Amino acid sequence: MKQGRVKLMVDSRRLLRNAVPPCLWDWARARFGGVRQVPGWPTADAGGWTEAAASAVEGYEEGVRRMIEGAALSYLPTEEPVSWLHSDPQFHHRMVQLGLVAARMGGEHGALNILDYGGGFGVHALALKRLLPWLRFQYTVCELPAFCDLGRELNPDIRFVSTLADAGMGYDLVYASSSVQYMRDWRRLLGDLSAASSGGVFVTRTPFVLTRDTFVVMQRAYGTEYPGWVFNLREFVQAAQELGAGTQREVFVNGRGLAVRGASEPNVHLGLLFE
Ligand SMILES: C[S@@+](CC[C@H](N)C(=O)[O-])C[C@H]1O[C@@H](n2cnc3c(N)ncnc32)[C@H](O)[C@@H]1O
Repeated sequence: MKQGRVKLMVDSRRLLRNAVPPCLWDWARARFGGVRQVPGWPTADAGGWTEAAASAVEGYEEGVRRMIEGAALSYLPTEEPVSWLHSDPQFHHRMVQLGLVAARMGGEHGALNILDYGGGFGVHALALKRLLPWLRFQYTVCELPAFCDLGRELNPDIRFVSTLADAGMGYDLVYASSSVQYMRDWRRLLGDLSAASSGGVFVTRTPFVLTRDTFVVMQRAYGTEYPGWVFNLREFVQAAQELGAGTQREVFVNGRGLAVRGASEPNVHLGLLFE
């Protein structure tokens, strides 16, 4: 009975998704979606990432099995390619982009020491293993303690630390995917990440606007709510270079950003490589 209800819900959602033109989706997401612009960073962070660890672990096994054994790094649809095209290719692009960056940074000697800041349970290391089986890499994830505890159980080959001081320095590649924007003091974090790197700094899955100033949004996901930045691209690149990340060498387009209620300019998710 319960399964029948779930299937009906999924089928209805799929039907709706395929029937509604993309421009109408964009409008509805901007009008009613779970991300809204707010005047500034809240004084006390509401909810937050600690609560997210437990809910993020749901579906982990399935995602990892697919990544290790699936026909494609993300997944190939057997049906309903239209709704699949809305979301999954972004993940695919980001992993291929990470593979390119890792191949570039580790190219000559085939070995790479990577720090993944805000790397969750370390899943991106599994994608790298699949894409670049010849690359010998050491992988350290810097995460909140709750993620580190679960991550050590799920991925014992990865080193988990909960502070950048514990992570240490001298990494060939410091990688931050969808994490810098969630830190109130993002400039300080960029400086710390740059100091940990002796090669490249790759900040990706990060929302940017091109003309307007950096602003703050509140986002609802993982059963919680948290603030985040949408950065002005020029300001961010200049800050990163001044803070020692190196010269900006490449811009990867991840895809469109989340629609933000109240924002005057749509944002785009980019990956910036500094060396
Ligand atoms: C949107 S998730 C991104 C996960 C993954 N990097 C990805 O791209 O799919 C943001 C991550 O940042 C982590 N995070 C939040 N605050 C942090 C902190 N102070 N130190 C380290 N990680 C933090 C969260 O726990 C969460 O896993």
